[in-house]
Amino acid sequence: MIIIWIILILLFVSFGAIVFVGAPYVPSKKNDASQLFSVLNLKKGSVFVDLGSGDGKVLLAAAKAGLKPIGYELNPFLYLISKIRLRKYPKSKVVWGNYWSADLSKADLVFVFSAAPFMQKLYDKFKYQLKSGALVASYAFSFEGIKIYKKIEPINIYKF
Ligand SMILES: C[S@@+](CC[C@H](N)C(=O)[O-])C[C@H]1O[C@@H](n2cnc3c(N)ncnc32)[C@H](O)[C@@H]1O
Repeated sequence: MIIIWIILILLFVSFGAIVFVGAPYVPSKKNDASQLFSVLNLKKGSVFVDLGSGDGKVLLAAAKAGLKPIGYELNPFLYLISKIRLRKYPKSKVVWGNYWSADLSKADLVFVFSAAPFMQKLYDKFKYQLKSGALVASYAFSFEGIKIYKKIEPINIYKF
């Protein structure tokens, strides 16, 4: 009985309480990331970071596109699924941790599927940490008052 309670609490914390630090788990559509990579056509080996990498599907598409994927995911279940998904790509990295403490200084492209209340804080982090020319692909949400560099519905792309 106690084990069931522990599992229930873990599930609640992982999938529910996450809303205090970021968006809950809602996967982006399967082909959107592949389309993003094919339109942007970044150099092989470019550093791709997914902030809140969920089940690792976007990271896998990045690896297949020849990028170096790095994901940050707080949910331990999704983190483990991502590790299994990316097992054939040794250059990929999935971090079990809070993306607010991620160092983005080496990123060429950052992908984020967040939520409206976090967009300003994310923008400030990008402005402070990203190198000049780095791209941010924001799934479904936009930065208020900031010019969109490219749009691949439903992804808004910004150049920093
Ligand atoms: C909307 S889902 C997007 C998942 C994936 N990027 C995709 O597009 O399919 C957001 C993910 O971010 C994770 N997350 C939310 N806040 C986080 C934080 N502060 N640090 C790390 N992961 C976070 C959630 O657990 C969830 O898996």
